[in-house]
Amino acid sequence: MNRRGFFTRLTQAIGSLTGLAFAAPVVAYLFPKPSQRGNNTLTTLDGEAIPAETVEKHGARVGIAFGEPTLVVFSRGEWKAFEAVCSHLGCIVRWQPQEEKIVCPCHGARFGTDGRVVSGPPPRPLKRYRVEIAQNNILLFEA
Ligand code: FES
Repeated sequence: MNRRGFFTRLTQAIGSLTGLAFAAPVVAYLFPKPSQRGNNTLTTLDGEAIPAETVEKHGARVGIAFGEPTLVVFSRGEWKAFEAVCSHLGCIVRWQPQEEKIVCPCHGARFGTDGRVVSGPPPRPLKRYRVEIAQNNILLFEA
């Protein structure tokens, strides 16, 4: 290999490595590993599983699932779960049992039991999850 060929190959190798260095974070962002998204069991911030019986007693609970704040509601014998981050400016929503609505304390938004915006400024509904109870654990799945 002559000198020109050597520098051409060296330049190509450096270009390829630079391209990989920029592409790797983009690929990791677009296709997160399941472990990076957190698991589908509703837990406390400390990672302790929240027993289903404690939610049944109080009607609702905010915990963590998929690495995100999640609201689980037990109402009229039915389990429901939603992302707990308001779609307006990101406050954590709460269950209001008297109204049977999910409310946002920041700007007064109200969401129905299907996650749709009933009133207030949020531009879109809350993401909803399917709930299964297994051995007193609350498991969430994409709806
Ligand atoms: S942040 Fe929830 S209504 Fe504004």
